[in-house]
Amino acid sequence: MMELCCLIDCGLVCLGLGALCFLTSYLTRKTKEIRGKHVLVTGGSSGIGLSVAQQAAAKGANVTLVARNVKRLEEAQMAVEKTIHKVGGANKVQYYSVDLGGDVNAIGEMVKEAEKSFGPIYMLVNCAGLSIPLKFEDISPAQVKTQMDVNFFGSFFVSQEVVKSMKQQNEGIIVFISSLGGLLGLYGFTAYSASKAAVIKMAEALHMEVKPYNISVTVSFPPDTDTPGFVEENKIKPVETKLISEAAGLFSADDVAKKLLADALSGEFMSTSGIDGFMLTTMCAGMSPITSITSFFSQVFLMGPFRVISAFYLWQFNSIVKKEYQKRVSSKKSE
Ligand SMILES: NC(=O)c1ccc[n+]([C@@H]2O[C@H](COP(=O)([O-])OP(=O)(O)OC[C@H]3O[C@@H](n4cnc5c(N)ncnc54)[C@H](OP(=O)(O)O)[C@@H]3O)[C@@H](O)[C@H]2O)c1
Repeated sequence: MMELCCLIDCGLVCLGLGALCFLTSYLTRKTKEIRGKHVLVTGGSSGIGLSVAQQAAAKGANVTLVARNVKRLEEAQMAVEKTIHKVGGANKVQYYSVDLGGDVNAIGEMVKEAEKSFGPIYMLVNCAGLSIPLKFEDISPAQVKTQMDVNFFGSFFVSQEVVKSMKQQNEGIIVFISSLGGLLGLYGFTAYSASKAAVIKMAEALHMEVKPYNISVTVSFPPDTDTPGFVEENKIKPVETKLISEAAGLFSADDVAKKLLADALSGEFMSTSGIDGFMLTTMCAGMSPITSITSFFSQVFLMGPFRVISAFYLWQFNSIVKKEYQKRVSSKKSE
């Protein structure tokens, strides 16, 4: 009986300490400023990247947009300029057309040129990316390679160029976009999940390397987000992938971008939106960097219970796959 009372007391003390740390860290949270700073957004001509660019511009940053299609870049530049006009700012926007899955030298040249006109890059947001959701045996070698080239290598090489000047400045913020599909291997995402999981490990290692230089690293894990890219991937998405990923809901690019910017500016390592995003990032934190007491304590207390809930999700996902398989088998039999 005495031992039970001691255990309950210890539990209550831990909870109290946790709540105190949560409150202290919430109240003392410092946020970095991007007013007058150079923010480069890859994939800035569409979807999440365009929303990030607009919100960074509204905060007074000079914004560089990078993508391939010049017409869409011009339109995005106009949209960002409109945002600046709305808030009465005098900051600027420029764009560069580069294939980030292509020649590495072109990436180096682009970063040099961008820094020549807007000064050293203070914040880099690696939004360029794509998803080609297909069954393992249906995806072509070129489709596997493109996803790895843009999602992983593109982010790697742009960040490698940018980190050089960030180290000289002794400041900076680097943001990578992974996905909830980078934390959890899903039906139809064999190549995509692998490319986005690679981004997480690159970010964790880079975080450790650049911390002494006052450079922070954030990884964003968006759930399904309503963007032109999402519309495109839905055209070929296997029905199983659609039914499984729908479980986390559909978010707007503006909401995802807002959360990403807030988390990156306050130095959080992981950024996500929605309850499923919170559950997955908490459960998969593992040896990821500890950047706030708040997230650390939620990971300590919730990892175990969330793993129990995950069993239900996995059962549900596997039931969807089994049901669709059975439907296919019975429709073949009736042919
Ligand atoms: N939407 C979602 O549901 C969702 C969920 C999780 C993660 N994500 C990730 O979030 C990021 C943004 O996705 P989104 O949905 O906003 O996509 P999006 O609307 O298709 O925008 C993608 C952007 O990346 C650029 N891009 C694509 N390939 C490129 C290349 N080879 N070189 C340079 N730029 C390139 C595109 O412009 P060009 O085509 O003109 O080059 C465009 O500006 C991606 O990394 C995606 O994987 C999205």
